Amino acid sequence: MRTQVLIVGAGPSGLLLGQLLHRHGIDTVIVERQSGEHVLSRIRAGVLEQGTADLMDEAGVGARMHAEGLVHDGFALTVDGVRHRVDLRALASGKTVLVYGQTEVTRDLMAARAAEGLTTLYEAADVRIEGFDGTVGPGGPGGAGGTGGTDGTGGTGGTSGTSGTSGTSGTSGRLPRATCTVNGEAVEIQADFIAGCDGFHGVCRASVPAGAISVFEKVYPFGWLGLLSDTPPVSHELIYTRHARGFSLCSMRSATRSRYYLQVPAGERVEDWSDARFWDELRARLDPEAAAALVTGPSLEKSIAPLRSFVAEPMRFGRLFLAGDAAHIVPPTGAKGLNLAASDVRYLSQAFIEHYRERSDAGLDHYSARCLARVWKAERFSWWLTSLMHNFDQEPAFQARLQAAELDYVLGSDAARRVLAENYVGLPL
Ligand code: APR
Ligand code: PHB
Repeated sequence: MRTQVLIVGAGPSGLLLGQLLHRHGIDTVIVERQSGEHVLSRIRAGVLEQGTADLMDEAGVGARMHAEGLVHDGFALTVDGVRHRVDLRALASGKTVLVYGQTEVTRDLMAARAAEGLTTLYEAADVRIEGFDGTVGPGGPGGAGGTGGTDGTGGTGGTSGTSGTSGTSGTSGRLPRATCTVNGEAVEIQADFIAGCDGFHGVCRASVPAGAISVFEKVYPFGWLGLLSDTPPVSHELIYTRHARGFSLCSMRSATRSRYYLQVPAGERVEDWSDARFWDELRARLDPEAAAALVTGPSLEKSIAPLRSFVAEPMRFGRLFLAGDAAHIVPPTGAKGLNLAASDVRYLSQAFIEHYRERSDAGLDHYSARCLARVWKAERFSWWLTSLMHNFDQEPAFQARLQAAELDYVLGSDAARRVLAENYVGLPL
């Protein structure tokens, strides 16, 4: 097969990129390790920044999101049993967020891709990528990166649809390519570029020579135990609670479906958490009004996610471009994971469009630096909100005093709340 942009991974990053490129006549093939059903079974966050919602519109898949998503113009922080509202609309120049589950974002994108007849190879085993040329240009790993084997790009015709027809000449031996096994058959896909949208455990970042990549990581000594249930949310807004027993979050997917989280020590096993134990622990952490309003019911899903901050630099290696969780992870406290993935995809789609339509590689050359500037600000915010709201029992008492002082400051200062709100709704793109 031959395509213009080969996308590895059919999570939100890969699907959104594919959709945006298709709208501009750029051909893509997606290879995904899992089945479509498996991708849709993963429960992830559900708060969209305005910029992410705008991108869904630009991709032509915003209709259900607008019909079913819930506009939230504030959220609450509960500290010492007292709930404090953060009025996003007032503090962040009229901006709000949209509560719409990542699973639904993925479902809408999958449906649009299928309706357009675009190629997605699900259950692709043993995906390997090569020929993207990991050699790094004169700028070194932090620089723009070399373009490596320049055959075969630029001349593609801008056709959409049928993969396998849009290729141009070029020394095929030097083209970026992926190999995999689908339904027991060996498949090879050649492309002008590879977009590594294959998440934290994917093959793309792992295929970059170790010397060409720098990673920055912080692992937290706890995780989030999440529970999804068909019960009405305790409040019409999200509640982030700081409690001596540990952090908790009351979130939602709709007026009848709730999503709750508990801070649990690293290494905790989900099997040890019956629904009853979960509900009892959540109730113990909530403020009295929320505890009284809590409606419990059977869980639809329960899972534990470790908390981690991670950034890989740069995000471009020759003709391989990383986007989303493949390049960076944030702890979920600020709900930035999906939104950062969307901003990467926005920059990357613009860069590919410039390449094919205007014959300019400026966007590709600036992709990594442009993304990382925004990524690090979201990393800072997510780390800060995590540090502010969780229990750090192992840390010295000095740390706990600083945390208490910071909470007191945030809740008491209009300026500090503005900073919180500005980051929560999403920094400018
Ligand atoms: N080959 C093919 N596909 C792969 C491979 C591989 N070797 N490894 C992983 N994948 C697939 C995964 O199965 C998954 O469907 O890549 C996809 C990556 O999707 P996500 O992990 O969802 O990452 P991304 O699309 O970047 O989404 C951003 O936002 O809220 C956050 O972490 C959350 O998933 C979320 C992310
Ligand atoms: C969620 O609904 O899953 C969610 C919401 C807000 C967060 C994290 C997760 O900060």
